Amino acid sequence: MMPIVVAGSSHPGMAHSIARALGVKARFPMVERFPDGEIHIVAPAVEGTVVYVQTMHPYPNEMLTEMEFAVDLLKEQGAERVIAVVPYLAYTRQDTRHVDGEAVAVRTMLRLLEAAGVNDILSVDIHLHRLGLEDLSAMTSIKLHEVSAVDALAKEAGRFLNKPVVVGPDSESERWAKRAADLLGSNYDVLEKRRISPKEIEIRPKTMDVKGRDVLIIDDIVSTGDTIKKVIESLRAGGANKIAAAFTHGVLSGEDAAAGLYRAGADYLVSANTINNEFSRVDVGPIIAGKLKDLI
Ligand code: R5P
Repeated sequence: MMPIVVAGSSHPGMAHSIARALGVKARFPMVERFPDGEIHIVAPAVEGTVVYVQTMHPYPNEMLTEMEFAVDLLKEQGAERVIAVVPYLAYTRQDTRHVDGEAVAVRTMLRLLEAAGVNDILSVDIHLHRLGLEDLSAMTSIKLHEVSAVDALAKEAGRFLNKPVVVGPDSESERWAKRAADLLGSNYDVLEKRRISPKEIEIRPKTMDVKGRDVLIIDDIVSTGDTIKKVIESLRAGGANKIAAAFTHGVLSGEDAAAGLYRAGADYLVSANTINNEFSRVDVGPIIAGKLKDLI
């Protein structure tokens, strides 16, 4: 039996895209805010497996709260299993305690979603750096699943480039850089990144010769844009030809994030639509729907 697809308020277009790829119609419950900020949701009666779609940007805390209220309500309304499709899963960068007393926020988030009744989470290119998917899974009884937008991103950016070399900004991006290079039949390299503070990073210049070459930079998240900006600057200094950057989640949190990438010398920017932004031309709805067919 096909699942019922229910949209959260953060990304109705994603719910629509997933539902269309599954051959069903999404439902769009009314989500309002009272004047004091409280959320008010009215959801339809449902049954069987419900796919609840909510991305976590902008306003990750608001979106998380709405998801908890909505999933709890959907369970009351008849859902037996709720698969939360969270294309951009926030809080995954807070996966460890660096100083005494610091919250491991991703664990707290998973506990909250578990308490609300989420059975599965399906996300896209989860920011798994220090931890693997098994480590995150060990924090919760929720089953975690992941799909990747990298093939589609590489294909899209590849149309613009001639035999590009693929570059990942740091060792953590290697899994995506390798995948993109395999798809494009090219080679890849990862740079050395050191984060000095949440807003300050240092990128060691690359040893690979990019002179006259087209380059595709691949990363999972562009937040302030500083990481990609520094990579572009270093590639420009190395004499690269065309430079494209493809990333799954365009958080673009700095005021100047998008403009800064062009100013640094980017020729082409593309992201997936896990978060809507001016670069989100790759629709992950069909990729998510493909995985859902396996899960249901
Ligand atoms: C880091 O580990 C991630 O893969 C991204 O490189 C990082 O989150 C990007 O952040 P920003 O755009 O703020 O430099």
